[in-house]
Order: sequence, then C-alpha cells, then structure tokens
Amino acid sequence: MKNYLTLEDIPNLQQAVNQVIALKKEPYSNEHLGRQKTLGMLFFNPSLRTRLSTQKAAQHLGLKTMVMNFSNEAWALEFEDGTKMSGLRSEHIKEAAAVVSQYCDMVAIRAFASLSDKNKDEEEQVLNNFARYASIPVINMESATAHPLQALADAVTINEQGLTKRPKIVLTWAPHPKALPHAVGNSFSRMVQQLDADFVIAQPQGYELNPEITKNTPLMYDQEEALKDADFVYAKNWCSYSDYGNILRTDEQWMLTAKKMKLTHNAKFMHCLPIRRNVVVSDDVLDHSNSLVIEQANNRTYAAQWVLKQLLENG
Ligand code: CP
Repeated sequence: MKNYLTLEDIPNLQQAVNQVIALKKEPYSNEHLGRQKTLGMLFFNPSLRTRLSTQKAAQHLGLKTMVMNFSNEAWALEFEDGTKMSGLRSEHIKEAAAVVSQYCDMVAIRAFASLSDKNKDEEEQVLNNFARYASIPVINMESATAHPLQALADAVTINEQGLTKRPKIVLTWAPHPKALPHAVGNSFSRMVQQLDADFVIAQPQGYELNPEITKNTPLMYDQEEALKDADFVYAKNWCSYSDYGNILRTDEQWMLTAKKMKLTHNAKFMHCLPIRRNVVVSDDVLDHSNSLVIEQANNRTYAAQWVLKQLLENG
C-alpha cells in the first residue's frame, strides 16, 4: 500500500480487519516503528474523532504529529494548473505538497466536498493533487467522496459482534438541517459490499447515492420495510446526489426511533458521529445498549494505526 486514499487500497479487507483487532489488543506492540518519523495532518474542515484517533494511532507507533488547520492558519491554496494567481489564493499545491513532503514522512488530509461543483468534488481535487505532487504517502481523513478510515473502523465494529449467520445490514438516510456530503455513505456501502451480508440502502426519492457506488445494492424507499429483520442499522444523512448538493426536503419522519428499531432483529445501531440527537435519531436509540457509536469511534484509532503501520512498513 503506497497511499490510503480509498477503501480499495486495502488488498484484503477481512485480513485487514483481523489485523486491526490484533493491534487493538496490543496497541504498543510496534511502538518503535515510527521512531524519528513525522505524520503531517492537514485539516481543511473540522474534526474531533479523526484528529484525535489518528494522533493517538501515531502515538502508539512512536510517530510524531504536526497538525495544521488550513481553513484558518495556512495560505489559501490554488489547485488549477497554469492559472494567473492574482486572486485570493496565495500558494500553489505544487509548492505546498513538495514543502510538506520535506517536513513529514506521511501526510493525512481532510478535505470535504464543496457540494457546489460536482466535477471537482468527484475529481477529489484536494486529495488527489496532494497525492500527485507530494513525494510521501498520503492518507485520506475524509475527502469529497470517501471516508475510508471510518469504513475500516466500521468493518471492525461489525466483525467484533461475532455473528454466526449472514447479517442483514441496512444503511438508512436520516434527516439533517444542513446539506452533508456523501463520503460516509459511499465508503460504508463499498465496505459492506465486500462482506458476506444482505445489504440494503433506504432513502427517500431523490436521495439515491451515486449509482456507480451503490451498483447492485437494493435501494428501498420505505424505511420501515427496509428495517425489517435487520441486524445492523447504520443511519446517515447525505444531500441529494442527482440534484447535487441540495436538500430536497427534510423528511422528519425518517428520523430513527426506538419504535422503528422494534421492526429489526434486535439490531445494533451505528453512526459515524457527530450526530444530532432527536433529528437524525431519537435519544432512546442512541442511549440504548445496542448502540455501537462509541465503539465505532474507539475503533477509529486502531483502523488508523493499521493504515499508518502498513505505510511505515512499506517504507
Ligand atoms: N466520524 C468522523 O470522522 O468524525 P469527525 O468528523 O469528528 O472526525
């Protein structure tokens, strides 16, 4: 593995999940691997879990971290080639990526979708330009279209439940007052498609994810029907993909409640966090013992540690 940009950079997901679980048992077993090495962490957007879990993962490996918030601390970056930089953007990605590559041994980037320019978002302008111009490994800490660190942690969390039968996993759209990106839904879908599971996605009309992501996964428009007999329910909001970046309607009746969870096979509840209580999901679901959200966040550390370890070992 040279970079970790998408879930597809993992050669064997099940093997990776097993190795993450082993790391979780002995997190300091490779504490010298990152000695005298530095992970740069560049944030174009806010974070709680990704920032702290990745820093914790780096600590376990003896890596130093340098963190920069590009949104308010760094020069505004230009990503277009051949442009006359007479506007607000002071530094070109070519120099920025080359300079960061001198200070760091790996760089992790968080850069959400603009939700205004579908082409640029799908091109992954920020992440892919860092990957293009940096001479060090690049890690995706949530980009315009993918959140592969979250998806690996979610795969671990599902695996840890030790199911004996093929589980039914439901990804359900849930309401939210702001337009949110598709990254988590995309990466979760790509991850579950690799599991031995019955997988369905429930969403209102107009909220279908990119069909290149959902592929043959059944799409359902009746949330309660979709929830029947589910073993795992993953709630997430995303804005419209076809009417790109827009909120078509708030559909408050899509909020996940304890009454709806009764339709399931005593399902575990999952969400990547942060979550808006009593908007996305009611308190009684989030506070129930079947909620895995805190364990998902815990597993972010070991998923990130596995990724950093692979990149360190590959030199
Ligand atoms: N789930 C997740 O990525 O959380 P943060 O946005 O807080 O990093």
